[in-house]
Amino acid sequence: MSSVVRYELIDNIGIITIDNPPVNALSQALRQGLLDVVTAAQKDASEALVLLCGGRTFMAGADITEFGKPPQSPSLPEVLAVLENSRKLIVAAMHGTALGGGFETALACHYRCAVPSARVGLPEVKLGLLPGAGGTQRVTRLAGVKAALEIILNGNPLSAAEAAELNLLDEVLPDENLREGAIAYAHDLVESGALLKRVRDISIDPGSLEPGFFDNYRRRLAERARGQIASDRIVTAVEAAVTLPMEHGLIRERDLFLELLLSSQSRAMRHIFFAEREAAKIRDLPTDTSLRDIRHVAVVGGGTMGGGIAMCFANAGMPVVLLEISGEALERGLAIIRKNYAGSVQKGKMSEAEMQQRLQLITGSADYADLAQVDLVIEAVFENPEIKKEVFRRLDAVCKPGAILASNTSYQNIDEIAAVTSRPQDVLGMHFFSPANVMKLLEVVRGEKTCHEVLATAMQVGRRIGKICALSRVCYGFIGNRMLTGYARQAHMLLLDGATPEQVDAVAEDFGMAMGPLAVGDLAGLDIGYKALQAREAAGEVIDPATHCVASALVELGRLGQKSGAGYYRYDPQTRARQSDPQVEALSREHAARLGIPQRVISRDEILARLFYPLINEGARILQEGIAQRPGDIDIVYVYGYAFPAAKGGPMFHADEIGLGTVYEGIQRFGRELGATYWQPAPLLAQLAASGSSFAQWDAARQG
Ligand code: CAA
Repeated sequence: MSSVVRYELIDNIGIITIDNPPVNALSQALRQGLLDVVTAAQKDASEALVLLCGGRTFMAGADITEFGKPPQSPSLPEVLAVLENSRKLIVAAMHGTALGGGFETALACHYRCAVPSARVGLPEVKLGLLPGAGGTQRVTRLAGVKAALEIILNGNPLSAAEAAELNLLDEVLPDENLREGAIAYAHDLVESGALLKRVRDISIDPGSLEPGFFDNYRRRLAERARGQIASDRIVTAVEAAVTLPMEHGLIRERDLFLELLLSSQSRAMRHIFFAEREAAKIRDLPTDTSLRDIRHVAVVGGGTMGGGIAMCFANAGMPVVLLEISGEALERGLAIIRKNYAGSVQKGKMSEAEMQQRLQLITGSADYADLAQVDLVIEAVFENPEIKKEVFRRLDAVCKPGAILASNTSYQNIDEIAAVTSRPQDVLGMHFFSPANVMKLLEVVRGEKTCHEVLATAMQVGRRIGKICALSRVCYGFIGNRMLTGYARQAHMLLLDGATPEQVDAVAEDFGMAMGPLAVGDLAGLDIGYKALQAREAAGEVIDPATHCVASALVELGRLGQKSGAGYYRYDPQTRARQSDPQVEALSREHAARLGIPQRVISRDEILARLFYPLINEGARILQEGIAQRPGDIDIVYVYGYAFPAAKGGPMFHADEIGLGTVYEGIQRFGRELGATYWQPAPLLAQLAASGSSFAQWDAARQG
């Protein structure tokens, strides 16, 4: 008997129960156990078999930890062939999330039922893969070509009702009682003399597709897929379902799956899958750290960030008080929130009733006394240390003992903010990314004195509101913005050296960034950086003009970015499409001449390296200083906070892929050619490059 697959015969029904926590991933032991049990059951007194899982979910897919290691027999397709060929009818009975190889297992059974709350899907595309165990062939046969393409290309799970509608489920059980419902369903099938329904026997009518359908589909997809190969191969696999007999279609699908499995894109996306889950764990926190109960939340400051943060809580069903300094300011803040929700209703993303429900969860106040009973306060006022400290003094005075006091600051020192309170152990940073109700990342910033309970609770609250959390220690800009400085600086300096904004942004976008650095500047507003610069200069700091002169000149010309119709680019007032502007090139030339910088033609490779090596280099410093817990956390910050392409795995994974020696030598070379001011290799990078090691190996060695 297998340790993960149990079998029992109840009357004439054989029950196969899989128990491989936490998510019943299809490990080698599970595959072997399933194969053995189904083979043995062919000879017993059962008339039908029910396949179900214990624990929280039906099988959630192949065991991703096995990918990249030598394959172990039996393969999933081998097991599924045995299931499909079984002479006894097999009913897959699903609960939780039947995903990837798990759902493909169900598709190889003869009947599929699920409890109403179950969700099914093929998320492989999110790992840079395609369903490699018949999913593309069977879903296409059951749901049709267009639905199959949509389901497999977006990778999002379907509800049981949606799956039934698409013919992917035969029966939605009457309630959540999986075992009882599934056994009753199997009895009904036996008694009614139901046939062995094999999906492979369904034929597809290609005549219903217009000529050139797949080529056109692939072409349209290529325009938005930014070089991601999985989408292209998925279309090819679905095409094979139409043009080839099942057995050849399965072989084609497997070949394409194996090609993707070996690709650097899938390696990167699998890294992100695990890094995301690791980032939620705080290494030095005892596992029995208790959590504080968070039911009522307050946000101080009703601007864009504060409003967006309040929406995050309301969206998760948690009541939230929005505090502003006056009734007028409060009304302005609430109006923005109403407008944002109304926009979602208009786009069909939310119903009117849902909007009302969420709005009811947000109440306004202009009185700190209303915060006396809240469990968590997030301060999101103007980015000025003195104003922030004043807010924390007032919070300290009114909030109940045990309330968590968080700042959404992007840059300020959390320890200094905590020091103005009588409870520094309850203070930390919770740094949201704009727009806060959309962006997935939450940087949780650990102050010197933040206690374990508060940290663990903040991470859990982040997950409750659907964020992906990464922990940072205190430094200027924390992980994300600190690293961004070098990237943005080089984007600007490249203009002085002779590149155009379009060239710089195109290189970043071809690499996979959602937007190039200069276009991002225009989107955020160039005046923001300008004001910050003025404040630093007013405080006596001398700032190298080469790092900002073109941007500052644009602001002084009234070109603030998208909001004023022009910045590094001109923007079409209707479509917001960007257009290059020779005036900006002239401005760069003028400033370059003034600073004595000779302009030249700059290669794509140089632009790429000058943008991304500073990110990696600063990331190495951040690791060595212990600001980030692990290289993977930095990758998570970049993928979810700055739209770094998941298919490149984040800056630190990408650095390991191209080799730290290459990055180190590139930085040394730029130091010689462009001056050492901004091109000093981080000691950790130098050390790892010299020993031929990687960030991942360094981290693994630290963990022992
Ligand atoms: N393989 C190995 N481990 C897995 C796994 C998998 N497929 N899915 C989840 N896990 C692990 C996670 O890493 C995590 O481990 P730790 O506790 O050590 O961090 C643990 O299971 C719990 O996972 P979550 O924290 O994600 O739990 P959740 O309840 O929030 O979500 C889930 C559960 C929806 C199943 C989510 O884990 C998930 O989406 N998993 C991946 C599903 C997937 O992509 N399946 C397709 C795999 S590829 C495939 O199947 C190819 C094929 O065609 C054969």
